[in-house]
Amino acid sequence: MARLKVKNLTFSFGYETILEDINFEINENEVVSIVGPSGGGKTTLLRLCAGLLDRQEGEIENSFKTQSIAFQDPRLLPWKNVIDNIAFGLKAMRVPLNERVKRAKEIALRFDLEEDDFDKFPKELSGGMSQRVSFARALVTKPELLFLDEPFSALDIGLKRELQNHIIELIENKEITIFFITHDIMEAVRLSDKILLLAPDPGRIVKTFEFNKPQSQRDDEWIYQQTVKLLSDRDIIETFELEFK
Ligand SMILES: Nc1ncnc2c1ncn2[C@@H]1O[C@H](COP(=O)(O)OP(=O)(O)OP(=O)(O)O)[C@@H](O)[C@H]1O
Ligand SMILES: [Mg+2]
Repeated sequence: MARLKVKNLTFSFGYETILEDINFEINENEVVSIVGPSGGGKTTLLRLCAGLLDRQEGEIENSFKTQSIAFQDPRLLPWKNVIDNIAFGLKAMRVPLNERVKRAKEIALRFDLEEDDFDKFPKELSGGMSQRVSFARALVTKPELLFLDEPFSALDIGLKRELQNHIIELIENKEITIFFITHDIMEAVRLSDKILLLAPDPGRIVKTFEFNKPQSQRDDEWIYQQTVKLLSDRDIIETFELEFK
């Protein structure tokens, strides 16, 4: 059942049309990703869907009860340490202090942050550590819908894989629905049920790729094959201007 519906969405910043006639739906427990060139309007679309930007033309129906977002830049609170940053959203949910700290520590360890890091402040963290804290902060509240804007771009391949596996586990247990942006086509293939290809100027969805295989059954060979297929798709080549001229 569709829980997020976007219909005929058009959006401008000033006189510049950023998104034009965007239509798509996200079902419960689905992973939907957007890929497309830089500056094409992906973050703008995500922010509109998350209600962080006011809609202009068209409709967005979102029936998820809880949601959270991990931004392209981590946006941690500079005056709070790692654990307090992760636990921040739980305070608003009135989770008691000891439970907040317990849950924040659990997820921090899960994301390979070490106990020595718990008391560090954002300025003392590496880019990849900040991204993990940001991702942990978004997940710790167990939202029904999670928005992710290039969440793993600063991570090494091992960590990236670990966090992707965490997502796959949540999906398999039907615990979450995810709408995410990535520049990494292989990541999109590994995680997505649907990939929306967003072409720029103005941003519009030129193609949707669907994958029916459950994420947990996608082995490396299947992922490579599908990635190669996508990279040789005409619309992908044109949208990313991959062709040598
Ligand atoms: N607050 C803003 N005010 C004016 N223009 C904006 C604003 N935010 C984004 N834009 C413009 O909207 C367009 C789309 O930006 P957006 O951030 O959505 O792209 P993107 O696809 O996420 O790019 P990237 O892959 O580099 O993150 C760009 O031309 C950008 O300059
Ligand atoms: Mg962006």
